[in-house]
Amino acid sequence: MAAGAAGTRAVLALLVLCSMAAGAAGTSPEITAQVAESSGKLILSCNISAPHLSITGHQWIHKDKVVEEDKKTDTFTTYEIDGTREEHSGVYECVFEANPQIRGQVNISVAPQVTAYKKSEHGNEGDTGVLVCKNPSFPAVTTWSWSKTGHGALENASGRYIIKSSGNKTELRILKLDIEQDTGDYYCNGTNSFGTGEATVNLRVRSRLAALWPFLGIVAEVLVLVTIIFIYEKRRKPDEVPDDDDGGSAPLKSNATNHKDKNVRQRNAN
Ligand SMILES: *[C@@H]1O[C@H](CO)[C@@H](O)[C@H](O)[C@H]1NC(C)=O
Ligand SMILES: *[C@@H]1O[C@H](CO)[C@@H](O)[C@H](O)[C@H]1NC(C)=O
Ligand SMILES: *[C@@H]1O[C@H](CO)[C@@H](O)[C@H](O)[C@H]1NC(C)=O
Ligand SMILES: *[C@@H]1O[C@H](CO)[C@@H](O)[C@H](O)[C@H]1NC(C)=O
Ligand SMILES: *[C@@H]1O[C@H](CO)[C@@H](O)[C@H](O)[C@H]1NC(C)=O
Repeated sequence: MAAGAAGTRAVLALLVLCSMAAGAAGTSPEITAQVAESSGKLILSCNISAPHLSITGHQWIHKDKVVEEDKKTDTFTTYEIDGTREEHSGVYECVFEANPQIRGQVNISVAPQVTAYKKSEHGNEGDTGVLVCKNPSFPAVTTWSWSKTGHGALENASGRYIIKSSGNKTELRILKLDIEQDTGDYYCNGTNSFGTGEATVNLRVRSRLAALWPFLGIVAEVLVLVTIIFIYEKRRKPDEVPDDDDGGSAPLKSNATNHKDKNVRQRNAN
């Protein structure tokens, strides 16, 4: 009972009168469509005002897919969804199977559920920064705007910003990133007839030198290694010289016949 009462209270039911795709026939039965919200559930319903029609079933369609169907003959059909309006906004269609078929529309409409494509972005000084926000919800955003703390609205006209927007996405490009000027929080703000949604993107701008640090690190490392090897080799050399002579003399004798001959001659002479 308590749940029922809460349910009725939560029936923020948007009563929507729907026009139907009734083909050429001018006199079409009307469908009353409704969305009710009750204890974490959404209840979509369609009610047809033509009881004389012989109905042979119902279908619910969302995004071109049949999400529910039955073979009942009622002039009333419902479709339940777990979750909130914000999670399930969109256009739903109820179909009364008759001859001809009668269709009604139930729209779950919400204020834009704006999210940042990436909550934090970074770019290098002098490059172009790209920040993106999207709105997956229904209906589409009619007006997008970008702003920045301590700066106000960002506009194309300034020459430093390029804003490109569609109903479900907006992109802010910042030309020639500057560390002082462009680092900070950016807000994308999308508005439709049901309200406004906002998301924040944090932008960090790194200096060109910072981008070089890893490379400089590797160069320094190689230099240190080369120096160490060089010093080590230099210290070792005096010990190794006699070793090398001993080791090298044996094969030299056997290989270099000219030397051998000379040695023989020299020995003979001695
Ligand atoms: C539902 O949304 C669609 C698409 O925006 C629109 O064409 C239609 O008129 C809306 N239907 C109702 C009943 O508001
Ligand atoms: C359907 O609509 C009719 C008239 O529009 C109304 O009398 C009836 O109570 C409705 N049925 C439901 C189940 O809402
Ligand atoms: C900003 O400029 C770009 C490119 O010139 C253009 O495509 C876009 O529509 C403009 N945006 C606005 C909000 O005027
Ligand atoms: C956004 O809109 C474009 C064109 O209007 C469409 O192709 C794309 O699928 C939409 N994306 C989402 C996530 O709704
Ligand atoms: C979004 O922008 C509109 C128009 O620029 C403004 O009226 C509204 O207050 C902004 N909303 C938020 C949440 O910033």
